Amino acid sequence: MKQTYLFANWKMYLDYQESIQLVKKLNELEFNQEKIKMVVCPGDLAIKDISEQLSDKINLGAQSGYWVDKGGYTGEISMQMYRDIGCKYVLIGHSERRHQFNESDEDVRKKMEAALATGLTPILCVGETLAQREKGLTVEIVNIQLKKALQKLPIEPDRELIIAYEPVWAIGTGHSCTVRDAEVEHKKIDAIVRAVVKNDPVILYGGSVRSENVLDYISSPEINGVLVGGASTKIDSWKEIVNKCQKG
Ligand code: PGA
Repeated sequence: MKQTYLFANWKMYLDYQESIQLVKKLNELEFNQEKIKMVVCPGDLAIKDISEQLSDKINLGAQSGYWVDKGGYTGEISMQMYRDIGCKYVLIGHSERRHQFNESDEDVRKKMEAALATGLTPILCVGETLAQREKGLTVEIVNIQLKKALQKLPIEPDRELIIAYEPVWAIGTGHSCTVRDAEVEHKKIDAIVRAVVKNDPVILYGGSVRSENVLDYISSPEINGVLVGGASTKIDSWKEIVNKCQKG
C-alpha cells in the first residue's frame, strides 16, 4: 500500500488558543496510519502543549530550528530543544525562511547537519521564484539548493530523508503547479538526491494544495505526499484532504 505523507504547516496563522482547539479536533480524525503518515508543524508558542496532547497517530514537526544546541542566540530554538519536547521532523529552508528572513543555502546546510545529528528527520524545502522560472532557471536553482544542502552530508542510505518541492510562486497564492510540471521536477530531484547522498528520498509537493486538487497530486507515482499551509489550518479543509487521501 502506498503511504501518503500529509504535512500540515500552520506557519504563524494560529494563536495559542486556536492551535490547541485545532489539535483537539485533529485527534478526533479517523484515518488509516498505513495509508497516511500525518505530521503537524505548529507554531512555537503552543508546540510543547501540543506535544503532550497530540494523539499517537499524529507526528510532530518544528517549522524551523537553530543549529547550535544552547547559547546566546536571541529568538532562536535549537533542534535539540525541539527533539526533547517530542518533535520527530523539522522543516528546513522553507521559502518563507529563505526569502523573508534571508536564510542562505549555508544556513540551510548547517540546519541539515544539526537536524541529522540530533535525530530529527529534515524536510528540505526547495523551489524557484516566478522570475527564476520565467527565465528557465528552475532546474538550476533546485539543483544548487539540493547540492549545497546535501553534498557530503553524513546521512545513511536507509535514513528517512524528505524533500519538499515548493515553487515559491505557488505558495499561498492559489496558483498551484500542474501535476505534470511537479512530476518533472520530482523526477529530477529524485535523481540528484540518489546521486549525491545515495538515499531514496520521500518527495512532497507543496504550494496551494487544497481538498480540490490533493488527489491529483497524490495519485501520481512521483509524488509521495503534500506539504499544506493555509488549508491545514482549518479543520474542515484538512478533514476533506485527509478523507480524500484515505479513499484515493
Ligand atoms: P500553502 O503553503 O499551502 O498555503 O500554499 C504551503 C507551504 O508553504 O508549505
